[in-house]
Amino acid sequence: MTQTQITSFAHRHVALLAAAIVVLALTAPAQAQDATEGARLYRDTCADCHGRQGEDKALGQSRPLRTLDAETVRETLIARRADPRSMQDRIKAGLTDREVEALAAYVAAFPSP
Ligand code: HEC
Repeated sequence: MTQTQITSFAHRHVALLAAAIVVLALTAPAQAQDATEGARLYRDTCADCHGRQGEDKALGQSRPLRTLDAETVRETLIARRADPRSMQDRIKAGLTDREVEALAAYVAAFPSP
């Protein structure tokens, strides 16, 4: 390698590293924010019926949410939002896509029994 080749090699790698740092800096807070949002939403909107750790059968009817995976929670919330039939569906119907994702991740992280 000539000096010029070495310099341009180093520059390219510095640029890549800088790009990677920018990507990390942008995505990490977004993920942290989603986790906080999921926790806050769950506590304020869902915990009364489903239990703080997803341990209750809501109104004696649902499965404990801590036994469900993220996919099931996401699909349930999206389906109820599209066709709300009950009081509890109407509570779910106001959720945005982002809130659904945050809740699905939060609920799936509950320790299952
Ligand atoms: C007023 C009480 C109430 C609130 C508040 C409530 N739910 Fe429910 N939820 C229920 C009941 C009752 C059922 C079972 C009957 C049904 O499926 O609608 C249920 C069912 C579910 C199911 C499907 C469970 C299963 O057995 O398949 C999920 C997932 C769910 N709720 C998530 C949530 C989330 C997330 C929130 C907060 C945004 C929430 N619920 C708020 C009462 C509630």
